[in-house]
Amino acid sequence: MIEQQIKSAVRDIPDFPKPGIVFKDITTILKDPALCEGIIDAFIEKLKGIRIDAVAGVESRGFLFGLTLATRLGVPFVPVRKAGKLPYSIKQKAYELEYGTATIEMHTDAFEPGQHILLHDDLLATGGTVTAASDLIQEMGGVVSGFSFVVGLGFLKGKERIAPISNNIIVLAE
Ligand code: PRP
Ligand code: ADE
Repeated sequence: MIEQQIKSAVRDIPDFPKPGIVFKDITTILKDPALCEGIIDAFIEKLKGIRIDAVAGVESRGFLFGLTLATRLGVPFVPVRKAGKLPYSIKQKAYELEYGTATIEMHTDAFEPGQHILLHDDLLATGGTVTAASDLIQEMGGVVSGFSFVVGLGFLKGKERIAPISNNIIVLAE
């Protein structure tokens, strides 16, 4: 039900941002508040039983549902930002994604050592982004207790890549 609604709403843009990439445009989901609410409800249902002390969301599209999800769970939201945006002391990691390279950063006091962190992003492609974010969280003494994504591109095998980090992988539409 929610899977079909998401699939119908997402818009495919061929050859963006590079030739050969089919870009999944989720701005069309954001225009539908009932669907956005349904997405949060679906995450809450599927995350039952998983310890989550904080939700970390990856800039920028991971912020869209990440903060609402954290707020609904009653836990802090941790922004994982692209390089050069966070003002306090940071740890960083460079990584590759489907169509390029990037560097992400987190504040060194983003969470307490030993806390269980849910990593959230809008979309799972190669898994490069969330693998880098997981590395950072683990280097800072956190435990990645699971992943949540609105959309997954199954053919890029991101799930297989992140499964060794945590088996709690929620992908609403793939
Ligand atoms: C997109 C998407 C994920 C990542 C997925 O972000 O929001 O973060 O790519 O790709 P991967 O699984 O191959 O790592 P992007 O870096 O394009 O930034 P944006 O959210 O600011 O658009
Ligand atoms: N991030 C990585 N690959 C993507 C794709 N094909 N569409 C949207 N976001 C992405």
